[in-house]
Amino acid sequence: MRKTKKIGLTFLFPGNIIKSNPVERISFFGRMESPMEQKYARITLDKDFQISRIDKRIYGSFIEHLGRAVYGGIYQPGHPSADEEGFRKDVLDLVREIGVPIVRYPGGNFVSNFYWEDSVGPVAERPRRLELAWRSTEPNLVGVNEFASWSKKAGSQVMMAVNLGTRGIEAACNLLEYCNHPAGTKYSDLRISHGVKDPHNIKVWCLGNEMDGPWQTGHKTAQEYGRLADETGKAMKQIDPSLELVVCGSSNTNMPTYPQWEATVLEEAYDSVDFVSLHTYYGNRFHDTANFLAQSDDMDHFIKTIISTCDFVKAKRRAKKDIMLSFDEWNVWFHANEADDDTMKNRPWSVAPHLLEDHYDFEDALLVGLMLITLLKHSDRVRMACLAQLVNVIAPIMTEENGPAWKQTIFYPYLHASKYGRGIALNPALRSSKHDTRDFTDVTDVETVAVWDDQKDQVTIFAVNRDLEEDITLEADLRSFAGYRVLEHIVLENGDMNATNSAESQNVVPKVVSDRDQLQDGLLQSRLGKASWNVIRLGK
Ligand code: AHR
Repeated sequence: MRKTKKIGLTFLFPGNIIKSNPVERISFFGRMESPMEQKYARITLDKDFQISRIDKRIYGSFIEHLGRAVYGGIYQPGHPSADEEGFRKDVLDLVREIGVPIVRYPGGNFVSNFYWEDSVGPVAERPRRLELAWRSTEPNLVGVNEFASWSKKAGSQVMMAVNLGTRGIEAACNLLEYCNHPAGTKYSDLRISHGVKDPHNIKVWCLGNEMDGPWQTGHKTAQEYGRLADETGKAMKQIDPSLELVVCGSSNTNMPTYPQWEATVLEEAYDSVDFVSLHTYYGNRFHDTANFLAQSDDMDHFIKTIISTCDFVKAKRRAKKDIMLSFDEWNVWFHANEADDDTMKNRPWSVAPHLLEDHYDFEDALLVGLMLITLLKHSDRVRMACLAQLVNVIAPIMTEENGPAWKQTIFYPYLHASKYGRGIALNPALRSSKHDTRDFTDVTDVETVAVWDDQKDQVTIFAVNRDLEEDITLEADLRSFAGYRVLEHIVLENGDMNATNSAESQNVVPKVVSDRDQLQDGLLQSRLGKASWNVIRLGK
């Protein structure tokens, strides 16, 4: 909970404020906890405590024409690993290792001045354009068709954004016709003349990007944008009613128009759209790790607010359908801000400059894990989400121009969630000791969610111990998972919160531990190291 005023009984312990509830201090194992065991985490896993079947698109990501995401990232002809189309195979291998079901493209802020026609046809004839969002030059060597081809190789669907900044209904419909119509019309035949016979069949479309932000080219008021989104969505669904359309929500919760923006936009566009977008980025500018790690509670609150706003508009309009949430930009982003401002201000208009190349550390990986847990806790309404972004730009995957692709710290929780978080999200009915931080109250020491893979008959518990001083034992009543055993307990932990990875050294890597779990009579005790990400896999 974001801090307003403190309530309830608190006892002060070194470094933390522990909230104590005497009733809760009897463990599953029937014994009273001694004063030394003040910190606790208890969960109950039951097949009936279902949040939702998880839409795999919750593990999506994002590639924007920004910095070195495209040029020098996914695409680098001449690199030793480049394939016949110029795509780096080392990058593709890492994307496939994660398993990224959907990738948003081509922006981001970039899309608000994107002329898609410039990005198709013979490469030699494509114009170079001024790219206004990031003050770069866009060479248009990679465009709509190349990206669709890359996505296929990556095993991902495309989530395509249309320009509602400098353009509108016509350009959006033309792009849709170009991408999806089989043949026999101006734009479908244009695609075929460009050597792409089969339609791309892109089903998810974003109606612009962050249109509430004054930084956006063609920024609009909620009313203006809501009308345009409604008319654009209506026209696009005339072409294909099975499309899933995402309308822009607020750029973040600090926007002065939040959350009235969502209410106004949805009142205009409710019938035409299926999703509302949410974006958030967190940082640790105050070097306060406990506070930094509590920010997933802010994300939780953000999601709850948007659900309420959608449902308010639903009630007001006597509508039948629910609007789902697309959390299509989320991550840690702050490390490279000053350098980026300097580049854009003082060295504009270069091709693929080093921008937003945040070098992530260990604590960033913990917050990314916490944010993944938060998304899963809301998987009944958050049906899509995109870690922003995927390669080089605030990304889990980095590339060296003359060297390999390598994994940032945040690669690992993302990999684990995508790999083991498929199936049905279970509410673990968590009871945990809590602490307060600079900006938040009642922050659980442990945050967790579980996923039951009913195909493989396995359960995975994702858990972060956000206590920076102490290990905490997670006690789990496994109830309806009788006969299960611990298959594996993977941890990401590090004595140094600011440890980072690089092309040369992987300092923050997961390891499998074998001495932290005890399972007896359906009761699991797992030791969660202080400040750690845990993936506890159970099965028969
Ligand atoms: O992901 C980087 C930028 O963050 C995106 O272009 C924009 O949508 C957001 O502000």
